[in-house]
Amino acid sequence: MSEQRKIRKAVFPVAGLGTRFLPATKAVPKEMLTVVDKPVIQYVVDEAAEAGIEHFVFVTGRGKGVIEDYFDIQYELEQMLRERNKNAELTLLSHILPKAGTASFTRQQVPLGLGHAVWCARDIVGNEPFAVLLPDMIMSSEKSCLAGMVDLYGQTGGNVLAVEECDPDQAHKYGIVGKGAPVGDGFKITEMVEKPAKGTAPSNFFINGRYILQPEIFKILETQERGAGNEIQLTDGMLALAKSQEFAAYHFKGETYDCGAKDGFILANLAFALQRPDIRPAIEGPLKKLVSGLL
Ligand code: G1P
Repeated sequence: MSEQRKIRKAVFPVAGLGTRFLPATKAVPKEMLTVVDKPVIQYVVDEAAEAGIEHFVFVTGRGKGVIEDYFDIQYELEQMLRERNKNAELTLLSHILPKAGTASFTRQQVPLGLGHAVWCARDIVGNEPFAVLLPDMIMSSEKSCLAGMVDLYGQTGGNVLAVEECDPDQAHKYGIVGKGAPVGDGFKITEMVEKPAKGTAPSNFFINGRYILQPEIFKILETQERGAGNEIQLTDGMLALAKSQEFAAYHFKGETYDCGAKDGFILANLAFALQRPDIRPAIEGPLKKLVSGLL
């Protein structure tokens, strides 16, 4: 297999309204809700950086300006921290800051769906393969999900989607893929369907919100008709692209938390807090007590 073009850019669709989290998301974007002490979006950007991404493309919308501020210098705050010799905090802030010129922001003016949001990034991405990371999904694993996908992409080229298995009666909530022959460390995708009607899913492998796509997807999305939920669906665009290009699945084996849902968000907070040596000792006992008290 010839060497694949490097995945340098990642698109983060962050225009979603977050209605499931009202009233919290009335004035704060859902991507800025915190899991322990970092906004959700930071986990996803860290995952991308770990996989070698060099340019971070945020597709934002109205009321999401604070995301742009978050990835910028906060001069007054840093000045104050310097004056107070708060070096640990300063280091923390410097780690968040993308290198100058490596974060781009564009707006999805009308919420027409994920396919449309990705299409809004076409000029910034240009004619090269790229990653898409849905910020609702945050993951915990030894090797990051996108890093594993990049490895598979090195073997297969083409397009790579991360998938996980779900309870078959939950399949209607997701994009579902059909499982074909093994390819590299993954398998060939034979079909894709967005939010299949109950009992019609081709498998229980759902697309977990991480994609490596070839730029030809943009041309398709430009004229993609509305699909499930009356939205322009990325899955429908990928299905059209699959007529001329290969799609492989990377079977992610870590833990995924859907922070777009209240239960997933709360679980993420607990799981990530329990991974922290500075927090775990203080919450482990009370948590056990809380749970046993409820049983
Ligand atoms: C989107 C995608 C779907 C994918 C899911 C993962 O759906 O369209 O294919 O399985 O994310 O979270 P949404 O959650 O926006 O309805």
